[in-house]
Order: sequence, then C-alpha cells, then structure tokens
Amino acid sequence: MENKQEKVVVVDFGAQYGQLIARRVRDLKVYSEIVPYTTSAQEILALKPDAIILSGGPASVYLEDSPHIDPEILDLGLPILGFCYGMQTIAYLHGGKVANADKGEYGGTRMQRLGESQLLAGTPEEQTVWMSHRDSVTQVPEGYTLTASTPNCPVAAFENPEKKIYATQFHPEVKHTSHGNDILKTFLFELAGLSPQWTTESVIDRAVREIREQVKDEHVILALSGGVDSSVVAALLHKAIGDQLHCVFVNHGLLRKGEPESVERVFKDQFKIDLKMVDAQDRYLNKLAGVNDPEKKRRIIGEEFWKVFFEEAQKLDGIRYLAQGTIYPDVIESGSRKTGGASSTIKSHHNLIPFPEGVHFDLIEPLDHFFKDEVRAIGTELGLPDEIVYRQPFPGPGLAIRIIGDITKEKLDLLREADAIVREELDAYNKEHEGAVWQYFAVLPDIRSVGVMGDERTYARPIIIRAVESQDAMTADWAKLPYEVLSRISSRIVGEVAGINRVAYDITSKPPATIEWE
Ligand code: XMP
Repeated sequence: MENKQEKVVVVDFGAQYGQLIARRVRDLKVYSEIVPYTTSAQEILALKPDAIILSGGPASVYLEDSPHIDPEILDLGLPILGFCYGMQTIAYLHGGKVANADKGEYGGTRMQRLGESQLLAGTPEEQTVWMSHRDSVTQVPEGYTLTASTPNCPVAAFENPEKKIYATQFHPEVKHTSHGNDILKTFLFELAGLSPQWTTESVIDRAVREIREQVKDEHVILALSGGVDSSVVAALLHKAIGDQLHCVFVNHGLLRKGEPESVERVFKDQFKIDLKMVDAQDRYLNKLAGVNDPEKKRRIIGEEFWKVFFEEAQKLDGIRYLAQGTIYPDVIESGSRKTGGASSTIKSHHNLIPFPEGVHFDLIEPLDHFFKDEVRAIGTELGLPDEIVYRQPFPGPGLAIRIIGDITKEKLDLLREADAIVREELDAYNKEHEGAVWQYFAVLPDIRSVGVMGDERTYARPIIIRAVESQDAMTADWAKLPYEVLSRISSRIVGEVAGINRVAYDITSKPPATIEWE
C-alpha cells in the first residue's frame, strides 16, 4: 500500500549546515532531503515537500556573488523555517534589512523571548541559544513579528504565521541551543503538521517496495566486500528480491584474518544468498609482485578487482542490474544531485565503473538517500551481526597499503597474524571503553632489526601498531592506550608470530600523518 512519505526539503547554503539539519530532522523521524540553493521553486515543488528549511551558511546575503535562492520558494505556501543565513535570506527577500554588525556573536548566548511566538511556544522566556554570525537582521520585514532578542542581536527570531514563515538567527540544530530540538519539533509537528513516521521499519518497507517496482523479475549482481555498505545492500536486496540477487565476493588475499570466512558464514549460511566466492589470491600476488609505490598498488588492486568481478558477472546469464552501496554523503559530495533525484547520481557513479567493452548493466543504488548511521540501523534491523554493521573502516586496497614496500605472501601472512592480535586485544579494550578507539590495525614496515630470543640473535621484522581516535577520519589523534594493553599486544605478537621480533607504537596524529601508512 503506497502512502505518501512526508518530506522536508533542506536548502543548503554550504559549509555542511544542510547535512546537520537534515540529520536532526531525520532523528525526529521525518524524512528530509538536501538540495543546493540553486534549486528553483519549481524543482523543489517537484520533490513534493511538506515543509522547507533554509539552512545556515557562511556568506553575506547583501553581496552580489552570495548564494541567492529563487525568491518564489518563499511564495510556495509551504511552511518555512530559516535560520542564520536562511533567516537573513528571508529578511533580504521580504524587504527587511541585513547589515554587518559591529561585533559578531559566536557561541552560547542568553536569549529573551518577546511576546507571543508560535515557533518558540513552550520554551522558556529566557534560554541559551547558539549563535555564529557576523551579519544580523537590523530591520524585521513588513508583516513579520519580532519574537526574540539577545544582547548583541536585537533580531534573534521573527515569524509570519499567516505565511507560515519562521526564522531564527541562532542555530536550533546545535546541541548547545538548549531548546533547539523542541523548536524543531514545534516547527515539524505543530506548524507544518507532520508526524514522526520515518522509522527504520518504514524505511525498509518502502525500500523493498521500490526495489521490487524497479527490478521486477530481472536479476541483480552485487560485488559484496563484507564492508558495511555492500553488506546492507545485499541484505536489503535479498529481502526484496530473494533469489534474483547474485553476489560475488573477490578474495584478493589482502583481507584480514577470518574475513572471507565471516562473509561466507553470514551471507551464504545465515542469509542463504547466492554468493560466489572467487579466489583471486595468486592473480593479485602476481600483479603486485615487486610493486612498491602506494598509488600504483592502489591502481592495480582497483583495476584488477573490476576485471575479476566482470569475468564472474559475464558467466551469469540474464543479469540486468548492478547494485552499488552508494550512500547519501557520496551523492551530496559528488555534487551531482541538482534536484536530489537519484537519476543524476546514477549517471555520475556510472562513469566510475570501468565496464568492459560490450558489457553493460543498469545501476541500482538502494542506499543512496541514507546516512551511514541510518545504513547501520537498517543492517541491524535486517539481521546483520554487529561484527559487520559496526565494522571499522577498512581500505579497499586492504593489507596491501599496510605493508610498506613490495607485497609477498609471506609478508601478508605475517601481517594478518599480527593484525588479528591487535584487533582481538583492542576489540576487548574498546568494548569496555564504549568504542573510544576508532580504528586500529598493524602495519608491516620494510625493515629488519636485530633482536635476541633465547640465546639466539634474530634479524627479523618489526610490527607497528596504529590506533586512533577520530570522528570522521579527516583528523585523528593517536589513542592514549594504557601501557598494560600495549605491553600485552607486544608480548603476544612477538611470542605468537614467528618472524616478528619488535613492536612499535605510532604516536602521530593526523595531520601531520595520515591514519594509514600508505
Ligand atoms: P588516511 O590514511 O587518508 O585514511 O588518513 C582516512 C580513512 O580512509 C581509509 N582509507 C581508505 N579507504 N581506500 C579506502 O576505501 C583507500 O585507498 C583508503 N586509504 C585510506 C583509512 O582506513 C581511514 O579510515
């Protein structure tokens, strides 16, 4: 049964404000999509939104080259909430004044409500809000009522209930705005009349329906890596189309200990998915023999992956679709979603897949509107184990970029064993410390050093432990692991992995280092 999905469109002026606000709205169980500020009123209307939010942004509305929206967006008759730059946009377009204030306002500040307000109803007369602006509205547009002020910002909120347009200078999406969530809730549920229906179950139901509508009785192939995104795509497609899904897992020999087995156990044994395990280990070892340069390694591994995959794909008859684990941030960041529609995305990603001569599949990207944590929630709901859903990032080129210098089977085996110990010890540590460490692994450098074991002199390889704390891998700090933990890892590696006689800990943050060594 098709029921219309309620939707909020967030108009994004840049600097990631749009993403944050879209996520807050989704946290309140209302589906929201981000569109760039260049989207026209008609294009927005085509998305059938129930409300619009104009996000913040770093520019000044009165400058010529600033981001300007189509003014008709304000006349669509939809409930609109604008904050920060979004508020200034409303003021600017509706005849108010915006000016550069003497003093900017950054951080938490006390705000005083002034008179009646639909948007601020139910929040205290005085409250803390989070501000980040240099420009301010200096004159409220005609027909609007001023509803709040702060000492540095006389126009902190205004509204026009008749037009259903509401605006705040402060950021309701930021946790430091003490009633920000209440204000968003008032906007969504009271003023826009929406209801919190966008739950993981409803998301899965809708996705399953849409996949069935698209795929019909055709067949789909998926390159399953065991990573979060491709695993969730596999589980979701399997729920939607069962045996019409065919997965290919390429074991390039650069995986961590136990990984191929875990993929086989979960997808073949538990989910009963048609899964072809391809052993391409020797093929990769041959291709990578003697290659030292990290970028060359990456290129060979990527190219070879698609070759192996398409060789398998061509063995199967009657496949129409190729599934991809593209997620929403990939779509947003690729800048290809002029109207937020999936079709434009598909094109851009399509170009990235090196289809061999004469081979073509249509793409299906069932996760292309979900953020990572939503993808995880879908995976859990579909019955995927935590070891997959909460797997830490693992680079596509795998252990190849954790072996400095050329790659051999012997080095891969050494690293795999040492890495398994690092992971086992830090998995346990992390469980007790609420996931404090974000990513951890072992690195095998291209050197040997002298040691002594028993009465024997050794001349063997060291292992470097890398463990970092991070939010998004853009920056990272080395984890301040307790000495006992480091000491246990060190003794275990030297004791259990023949060929290793020394262990070092990498104490560099990112920047200046990167998380990976290559
Ligand atoms: P760096 O080393 O750049 O890594 O600080 C940031 C994050 O990205 C992962 N990474 C990769 N992931 N292919 C991937 O899929 C790659 O070539 C690659 N290189 C780095 C890395 O594990 C870390 O989480």
